[in-house]
Amino acid sequence: MLNFRLLHMSALMSANWKALDRQQLETTTQSEWLRELHSMTDRLKCCCVTLDVNVLGLHQCEVNVLTESERSLLGNEACFVREVLLSGDNMPWLYARTLVPMSTLTEQEEDIVYLGAVPLGQRVFSRTNARRDEIEVATVVIEGKTLLARRSRLWANNKPMLVSELFLPQAPIYHGNC
Ligand code: PHB
Repeated sequence: MLNFRLLHMSALMSANWKALDRQQLETTTQSEWLRELHSMTDRLKCCCVTLDVNVLGLHQCEVNVLTESERSLLGNEACFVREVLLSGDNMPWLYARTLVPMSTLTEQEEDIVYLGAVPLGQRVFSRTNARRDEIEVATVVIEGKTLLARRSRLWANNKPMLVSELFLPQAPIYHGNC
């Protein structure tokens, strides 16, 4: 699992993100998935009986570890990093890495640190004042396979976080089967 995590994390961290409109996508189904403004978890849940969240990592990172584009989307702040693997009916579908600035983890949002296996989108979109913007897309090559990734900013009570999602080969985005 450590190798899986490092491989997918470094692919996301070195991705060449482009605004969604400038990315050539193979199918409109893929573009609909990537354009999702609401919860990706809800969308994935429609394609399986059980959706599991496996927390792969939880740690803090200093501001100097963030890339320039991450800082321009979130501000100059140390972050809490949450990494998860989402599996639909026991198939690995999505690796996600979320940066949550420390100032986001205040008041009602303090609980985001303690979500565990509760999906982030389920928590954020169950409250008012949730929205998503700045959707960007990249393709990354992992073990010879070209995979789609997306990065977007989520707002909870007007406080930002940055969610990067990597769609693994068995994910429904490639198979158009739901
Ligand atoms: C998470 O729980 O951290 C999570 C879940 C689904 C996503 C992204 C992040 O699409």
